[in-house]
Amino acid sequence: MIFQQVPSGGDRNFGYVLGCERTKLGAVVDPSPEPEHCFQKVRELGLEIVYVINTHTHFDHTGGNDFFTRRGGAQIVTHKKATFGDMRVDDNQTLSLGQISLYFVHTPGHTNDSICILAGKELMTGDTLFVGKVGGTSTREAAQLEFDSLKKLFTLEMDVRVWPGHDYGVDPVSTIEKEIRTNPFCLRLDNFEKFLHLKDNWPAYKEEHGIL
Ligand SMILES: [Fe+2]
Repeated sequence: MIFQQVPSGGDRNFGYVLGCERTKLGAVVDPSPEPEHCFQKVRELGLEIVYVINTHTHFDHTGGNDFFTRRGGAQIVTHKKATFGDMRVDDNQTLSLGQISLYFVHTPGHTNDSICILAGKELMTGDTLFVGKVGGTSTREAAQLEFDSLKKLFTLEMDVRVWPGHDYGVDPVSTIEKEIRTNPFCLRLDNFEKFLHLKDNWPAYKEEHGIL
């Protein structure tokens, strides 16, 4: 499998390019806000992009979609609760990309239409799970949804790599095992009130622990 993390401008956004070595069919995930970075990678790799997949529909993840779809052939893939998309996917659904199987996990919380995408051992987590951090939520209900979504992600195998939507951590990539062991939010998944308390007091926690 071809898999590349691509810094894509904005607020340290990451896009992703993946593809099937045999068929050269490819997909881009969140190729935004500066889609030319993913496009350059696609050209270097000689891929034909058939899917543009959005982990959720915030503009800093979707704004580059047109860059690929206007060239024809690519379909936009989003969760079924998203307000747009040519193909709507739901939890536990798979999609073939040449000889690769993409597996979708619905992870509401940061947004209702948030999905994570698993390709082999590579998990693209959008704004649900960052390295050492989790996605922002604005209500108690959304935080509860995110709490449950994170617990769902942590049923995946320990050596699955975590590829976030933004470069907010000490490293650009992590693993399920490492996040369970070190992410301060994930250390509080045994108790929702503790998880919520950390969300509500994150600026103070960051300062206390020297987190940027
Ligand atoms: Fe977002």
